[in-house]
Amino acid sequence: MKEIVLTGDRPTGKLHLGHLVGSLITRKEMQDTDKYEMYIFSADMQGLTDNAKNPAKIKEHVFEVIKDNLSIGINPEKVTIFVQSGVPELTELTTYYMNLVSLSRLKRNPTIKEEIKQRGFEESIPVGFLTYPISQAADITAFDASIVPVGEDQIPILEQVCEIVDTFNSIYGETLTRPKYIVPENKSSRRLPGTDGKAKMSKSAGNCIYLTDDTETVRKKIMGMYTDPNHIKIEDPGNTENNPVFIYLDAFCKDREKYEELKTHYEKGGLGDKVVKEYLFEVIEETLTPIREKRAYYDEHPEIVEKIVIEGTAKARKKASEVLKRVRKNIGVEYFSQNLHD
Ligand code: TRP
Repeated sequence: MKEIVLTGDRPTGKLHLGHLVGSLITRKEMQDTDKYEMYIFSADMQGLTDNAKNPAKIKEHVFEVIKDNLSIGINPEKVTIFVQSGVPELTELTTYYMNLVSLSRLKRNPTIKEEIKQRGFEESIPVGFLTYPISQAADITAFDASIVPVGEDQIPILEQVCEIVDTFNSIYGETLTRPKYIVPENKSSRRLPGTDGKAKMSKSAGNCIYLTDDTETVRKKIMGMYTDPNHIKIEDPGNTENNPVFIYLDAFCKDREKYEELKTHYEKGGLGDKVVKEYLFEVIEETLTPIREKRAYYDEHPEIVEKIVIEGTAKARKKASEVLKRVRKNIGVEYFSQNLHD
């Protein structure tokens, strides 16, 4: 039996270069090995946990994130693509798991803590938001997924998912599969900074390069990138450590010799930022051109995208309902001589 891989994206915005190197490329590589049974989904219900008052934003992006996945080469013949709200089994699983997690444990989750701060929720945290690691446990276990490729910020969530799995299995007997997460090996790819040098690309900071940006936009964003502020004259030695231009090159440049050469030259002095940015622009364009071409095809054929998602969601539901049956049986939520659920 093939190992099962599952991952999802919140449809709160279009995906950017941080998503590409942080998780999308890993998915595509895993798909191409033909070694796994894969599921990728648009996590609309999770997106609503902090956007309840703005559901139009979620609706607008449900298919956008799916097209982002398709445009980087995810093949719907090989991967089951679905929408989270199309699989109500996930909600029932979430309800059972809610009893296995304490409020204080949820509040201690470092990712959730950080996100609460970022969103300025203070004491008025939506319950659904606080509990999204629980629904994420449902997303993963509903498919018996054993591998979850994610961005680095998701590690504490995955750790909590494993705790839920262990607690469930110890109370109700071996039922759920314990997942492993994978993050990229390259440190620059794990956490790509924004074009302004801030720790993370984020829509609100306006420091992202999107997979859908056109050539001119990409050029402008790259030429305006933050670099080493102490590299004033070309002859000055430059710092490549906290310099997003070099971090992007490390993440995207396939010609490693050229990357090392530029890095050494910049650190020694005598290499101007403009030259490095021009080269980075070339590298990023090389990455984005085939993505844009595929994207244009799916933008022109929304009916094909819809068909992929309808078929994928039906398949996902079938799989999730098998796991849910096992869960109900092992908890003992089975009271009748006939099955009421089918
Ligand atoms: N929390 C993930 C994100 O913000 C999205 C997500 C929801 C997810 N459910 C998942 C990722 C299950 C992996 C597995 O990107």
